Amino acid sequence: MASRHGTPSPRAKIRVSGTAMPRLHVNVDHVATLRQARRESFPDPVAWALAAERAGALGITCHLRKDRRHIQDDDVQRLRSSVATRLNLETSLERDIVAFACRIRPHAVCIVPEDRKEVTTEGGLDVVAERKRLAKAIPALRQAGAEVSLFVGPELRQIRAAVDVGAQFVELHTGAYANTRGTRRRHELARLRTAAVYAREHGLRVNAGHGLDYENVRPIAELPHVEELNIGFAIVARALDVGVRDAVHRMAVLVHARRALHRAGVAR
Ligand code: PXP
Repeated sequence: MASRHGTPSPRAKIRVSGTAMPRLHVNVDHVATLRQARRESFPDPVAWALAAERAGALGITCHLRKDRRHIQDDDVQRLRSSVATRLNLETSLERDIVAFACRIRPHAVCIVPEDRKEVTTEGGLDVVAERKRLAKAIPALRQAGAEVSLFVGPELRQIRAAVDVGAQFVELHTGAYANTRGTRRRHELARLRTAAVYAREHGLRVNAGHGLDYENVRPIAELPHVEELNIGFAIVARALDVGVRDAVHRMAVLVHARRALHRAGVAR
């Protein structure tokens, strides 16, 4: 099934031996972080995104922050016109950023909380507290043709609120899972599983991301109902050692499983 952008429908999950696997979406923010460290024109997150697609990424994600610390408006415009898979734009609820997203018309928008002092997106969105702004932003974004996702912790009351405000997806925040070990990690994984099942039962579609790396990604890729994993830092960091092609390919093998990659015609 093709979407309005002529790209594979997000419903088209990859199936391997009867098991649906999520799609790997690569977040390119940290390529721009490096460029902005010197306000140079390189490295270019757009060229890097296209290399990531050639290496097996099935979507590209970027976050246009209010402080423009990494991705710039022009990057989003260029990504929109050159990404061959799907562009997922992360935004806050700031009015001018939502208006920008409506003009750009990405395939998907993920609404995230934003705090100027944070190093990265630290928690999930408080959907309950943000109902009013979400009730304005979501219809506008959907009208612009974007699928709308809310980045939430694995909390059932936030997921219920996401249903109420008309989101199509939730992206489950995997940061607490990624930052713990042993029994606590197993507990966080169980919470994510419960949240994914609950969201699906209530009519939402489910993505996940944050803090995922080559060591912790498999249990998340195997969670029920998860359609897309957004992964940035671990891939960009590994690419410094082995290059974008190997870094993305290795993660794609973990997320999609090798047979699925062959089926999609992107395996090497
Ligand atoms: N998903 C969301 C909503 C995010 O805000 C981020 C970080 O920008 C990610 C996924 C990717 O996180 P990481 O860079 O830790 O892989």
